[in-house]
Amino acid sequence: MIHINENYLKLEASYLFSDIAKRVAAHQQRQPEPAIIRLGIGDVTRALPDACIAAFHRAVDEMASDAGFRGYGPEQGYAFLREAIAVNDFQARGADIHADEIFVSDGAKCDTGNIQEIFAADARIAIPDPVYPVYLDTNVMAGRTGHYQRGRYAGVVYLDGNAANGFIPELPTEPVDLIYLCFPNNPMGATITTEQLKQWVDFAAANRAIILYDAAYEAFIRDDTVPHSIYEIEGARKVAIEFRSFSKTAGFTGTRCAYTVVPTSLTAMTASGGTHSVHALWSRRHSTKFNGVSYPVQRAAEAVYSSAGKSQVAGLVDEYMTNAGIIRNAMQDLGYRCVGGENAPYIWVATQRDSWAFFDMLLEKAGVVCTPGAGFGTCGEGYIRISAFNSRDNVTAAMARIRQALA
Ligand code: MLT
Repeated sequence: MIHINENYLKLEASYLFSDIAKRVAAHQQRQPEPAIIRLGIGDVTRALPDACIAAFHRAVDEMASDAGFRGYGPEQGYAFLREAIAVNDFQARGADIHADEIFVSDGAKCDTGNIQEIFAADARIAIPDPVYPVYLDTNVMAGRTGHYQRGRYAGVVYLDGNAANGFIPELPTEPVDLIYLCFPNNPMGATITTEQLKQWVDFAAANRAIILYDAAYEAFIRDDTVPHSIYEIEGARKVAIEFRSFSKTAGFTGTRCAYTVVPTSLTAMTASGGTHSVHALWSRRHSTKFNGVSYPVQRAAEAVYSSAGKSQVAGLVDEYMTNAGIIRNAMQDLGYRCVGGENAPYIWVATQRDSWAFFDMLLEKAGVVCTPGAGFGTCGEGYIRISAFNSRDNVTAAMARIRQALA
């Protein structure tokens, strides 16, 4: 008789953002007016940059002739895109990363979820709290945790982020093997300094651990002293994997393109002490389970690095960051303490109240969707996250409605 993977039974019934979508749909049915304004899930609203659209069209036209047609592409991504990424996102910042270390994919969510497959089932994981739920849920599915009790899974080393530590988790006090970090942070919008990141790199090196570094929001960094990549830190090539995405930067949430960097110098051991290339394992996994991103989408992503693409992307990022400033100022004016919104598109607001109750109240009274902090972990209780991804008109209207609702 077929048995299920019982680890799935340990999971909360539904994924955070699906749960929110259901609540919002139910509210809309009860109360269709005023139209809901969504500042919940971080989904972009502006069109793809012109440079990407033009490249996308050209690539589709190439597919229309036998001469230009492309069938299966390289699973790791076309060289033209991997080269552009390595040069612009890393070498231009002094980070020693090469095209053959880039794995193009359809999303940082999938990659951060899938990467754990290449590590041992009994790897000890360190996960921030609050956290993007995918890191935790995929480890639960893989059986790396015990059961869920009072908001936490047994067997996980939680790295608390709270007002006391400036929303930057402290180093674990016990040995761990896999460490998840995300900066600029989702959900809290906090950033890490070069010195703080260096401590993590040194900790990983000393403990033979690997850091899984999610840098999906690096394009939103405004402060020149904040590192964009973990590979700006000396020693990181030996201890870190980095995840990036075109989703939030260039509006690719529906188009789908992202990448993961696995340096060729990154190794991990077998239980018996043999040393193996993590790059080789991920390459093997990627070519077996992934078909590659479509050719036109990779051409559209490549256009992000053209000079027109760069300035158009900068324009989009500026626009969302102006929204972030509007949200942060409005919430602070209302007397709420906020983090984020300065180098990240998320504003983490201390509500001092049950976060789902605050979410429901904003939905009912203002018709505005946020994300309840508790959905990101126990340390998120008492907070909500507001996303800056929406049009200026909607953000301004949402803040006016919130002001009225909270008056
Ligand atoms: C978020 O709102 O946290 C993100 O949009 C989710 C994601 O990128 O998958």
